[in-house]
Amino acid sequence: MNIKAVRGTKDILFKDSEKFNNIVNVASEVFENYGYGRIITPIFEETALFKRGIGEGTDIVEKEMYTFEDKGGRSVTLRPEGTASVVRSYLEHKIGKQEEFSKFYYFGPMFRYERPQAGRYREFNQLGVEAFGSSEAVLDAEVISLGYGLLEKIGIEELEVQINSVGGKESRIAYREKLVDYLSDKVELLCEDCKTRYEKNPLRVLDCKVKSCQEATKDAPVLTENLSEEETAHYEEVKKYLDAFDVKYTENPKLVRGLDYYSKTVFEIVTNKLGAQGTVLAGGRYDGLVETMGGKATPGVGFAAGVERIMLLLDQDKLTKKAPVAIVWLGEESKEFSFKLAERLRKDGVKINIELKSKSMRAQMKKIDKLGAKYAIIIGEDEMKNNQVQLKNLKERTQTVYSIEDVVAIWKGE
Ligand code: HAM
Repeated sequence: MNIKAVRGTKDILFKDSEKFNNIVNVASEVFENYGYGRIITPIFEETALFKRGIGEGTDIVEKEMYTFEDKGGRSVTLRPEGTASVVRSYLEHKIGKQEEFSKFYYFGPMFRYERPQAGRYREFNQLGVEAFGSSEAVLDAEVISLGYGLLEKIGIEELEVQINSVGGKESRIAYREKLVDYLSDKVELLCEDCKTRYEKNPLRVLDCKVKSCQEATKDAPVLTENLSEEETAHYEEVKKYLDAFDVKYTENPKLVRGLDYYSKTVFEIVTNKLGAQGTVLAGGRYDGLVETMGGKATPGVGFAAGVERIMLLLDQDKLTKKAPVAIVWLGEESKEFSFKLAERLRKDGVKINIELKSKSMRAQMKKIDKLGAKYAIIIGEDEMKNNQVQLKNLKERTQTVYSIEDVVAIWKGE
């Protein structure tokens, strides 16, 4: 068989799957601490949901969706992101009628037909949050702080928080006109993609990474100078709370994001360690989205982070909470005794490696060295008779005798 994983998809295994689990575990803990509850939505939805939610003129909807007809003739799409699905679920279950304010978090695979490269895949995983029902600026700042704190807790360093405000619908329409006017004599300088964007979605020309486009927008009118009074005040308040929460940020007046639903605050947490795929976490406010999807006007704000990008940045050691332990048993007689101890310690939450077949001390020590164990519990005939073990600290090369009860208590943290 010579079938390989489809281009842009990959297996996550061994050390990477451990990393993956650790990230998801830390994220759920942090999300729960902030009062978010988990939501699990289907991996595919009606195509119309994403068209309407994300916007017809966006790259995602125009070029990147995995859309197909199912056997019943319905057009369905593998979700390219999580927000539209969470809004659909929020409306379908009439959650807004049951509670004024709701907060959700999610994990899961997303699908976009993009050109694969390091940090960019066709199937990738996101973890994200969405909060509905409040337009308070303090919530925007709290969500940004949550995202930044989460990445910090996972162990990622040297990140930059970039923020901007794209205003509401009206100021964006007015700004769009000004921008089109400004760009009208510069269209020739734009890259091929931006020539199309100029027609369909001119704001996206602002954050194009191509040099000639950046040059062309150098003196473009500034979004935040074209906001209403209320929008400006909201943005100022977001910044005030970010200062209060000690979150360092940079204002990036050209940050506009690639999805149509944003209003007011937008933000990205970026690194310079991943080349062109430097955005690790991104989001913003989307006060008009619930209404666009057919609900009562309900403000919302959230973000999503790319798990694979986090993994690329992660130093594995930072997430190893408990030192792994290996049980080394010598001679067939001590097998049952050793496996019973392994079971007992595992039930207490200790990560144990143990050899299945009788092997020499040397062979076992060599193997556990490879596994990166920090301690070895050594059990031979004598230890078994005395209900004891030899505990070896592999780094410091010390060895001490303990009773079984004591060794269990050590790992229970007693
Ligand atoms: P997004 O910027 O499209 O936003 O994606 C969020 C994050 O997902 C990116 O910053 C990146 O880390 C990761 N990501 C996106 N595409 C790929 C890819 N092809 N391969 C690997 N990672 C990728 C959204 O999806 C919005 N739903 C975020 C949001 C939630 N806004 C409000 N609430």
